[in-house]
Amino acid sequence: MTHMHVAGSAHAEAASPAPVWLDMPADANALSPAVWSSQARRRADGALEIAGVEAEELARRFGTPLYVLDEDDFRSRARRWRTAFDPWTVYYAGKAFLSAKVARWVAEEGLCLDVCSLGELTLALRAGTDPARIGMHGNNKSAAELRAGVEAGVGRVIVDSYDEITRVESIAEELDTTVKVMVRVTTGVEAHTHDYIATAHDDQKFGLSVNGGAALVAMMRCYHSPRLELLGVHSHIGSQIFDTNGFEVAARRALKLFAQFREATGQLMGELDLGGGFGIAYVESDSPASAEELAQGLREIVDHECRGFGLEPPRVSIEPGRAIVGPAGTALYRVGTVKEVDVGGGHTRHYLAVDGGMSDNIRPALYGADYSAAVANRASEAPPVLSRVVGVHCESGDILVRDAFLPADARIGDLIAVPASGAYSRSMASNYNHTPRPPVVAVRQGAVETLLRRETLEDMLALDEGL
Ligand SMILES: Cc1ncc(COP(=O)(O)O)c(C=O)c1O
Repeated sequence: MTHMHVAGSAHAEAASPAPVWLDMPADANALSPAVWSSQARRRADGALEIAGVEAEELARRFGTPLYVLDEDDFRSRARRWRTAFDPWTVYYAGKAFLSAKVARWVAEEGLCLDVCSLGELTLALRAGTDPARIGMHGNNKSAAELRAGVEAGVGRVIVDSYDEITRVESIAEELDTTVKVMVRVTTGVEAHTHDYIATAHDDQKFGLSVNGGAALVAMMRCYHSPRLELLGVHSHIGSQIFDTNGFEVAARRALKLFAQFREATGQLMGELDLGGGFGIAYVESDSPASAEELAQGLREIVDHECRGFGLEPPRVSIEPGRAIVGPAGTALYRVGTVKEVDVGGGHTRHYLAVDGGMSDNIRPALYGADYSAAVANRASEAPPVLSRVVGVHCESGDILVRDAFLPADARIGDLIAVPASGAYSRSMASNYNHTPRPPVVAVRQGAVETLLRRETLEDMLALDEGL
């Protein structure tokens, strides 16, 4: 599970199938500010509105599934992270969700942008992002990707392997230029998160390990290369992390490299990037630290470790994605079928099958991620019952919300809203079962703007050369 609570069927009250972290709500219509975007509320008639726009109206106009981004919520989180971490540099991690308009919001709020593919890079450049404010990631960047980045003049390439150092050098040679690079290092820290999203332990594909000297060798290669300008070291320890504990060890091990580098070269390394991975609340019991708490904690860690190594504190950067866009997004689905399933021990679970699923949000199937849900088109007086929101795909793991208390009268035609859906849902969407990917609209002060239109069947079928 990606939230920080022990889930399972061992509920204190005998055999209830509800996980221990999920309490029966006093009111299933309530929208907890912990998980809903700041402009989400119920109107007097009980219907959900986001930034002054009724969810049902959006669903009718754009169809479902639909992703709704609360623009003011996104912008205020972006500002909050930038201000809390000032004067550190904040890169918004575009992999969480990126569109041209989002890239412009990011720039307008004073953040830089982290991209990790040719697609994200091209989108950012076409959206008008200043290349100097782009950081380019990826564990296996192709020559084409690197050339595009170098030709555009990206501010930094985060090199991930010796092979990539060679590749960047030869592209820089070919284009007769120099490239600013950071070396991605793994510090051996196992962030307390799902295996697939923990990225700094040694036995995985990212970066070069500080253990055994691989990271230092890479730094020395970059430092001595006439075509590369070594800016610093990059360490990203994982995702959906709630506190600063893992960062403390990672910063210590990364800064030890700074000390070793100074010993070897007599030079001070300029910058440490601590990556992203700051967690958000997907369910009410999740309690991530605030941007301000994290900023203070990380500052203290960096200062303390620098003192320990007798180093001048370097410039620092971070790369939050989910923490900015996650809470700003709400997914809307229409209920198509309802089943009451006997789960044993005298308990039942309501299965609400909706018109989306793992093709638009793979996280529950991929990581066992938990989400919350609410009936969005109306308030209900019915008692809350344990429910599961499932999709339309041919997999029993096609679950969107594994456990939520929803009104017992949730029925066909109801609109289900899933908060905290802005990150790694639409951006990881697939065409599984030949399903077109849903649109994303932004809402702000009663106005609606399309960020991504719905993919059509014709869009998809146009790829099939046999038709
Ligand atoms: C290098 C790097 N930076 C930043 C992020 C963003 O992580 P998050 O969206 O959890 O903040 C990721 C996520 O995978 C990443 O790999």
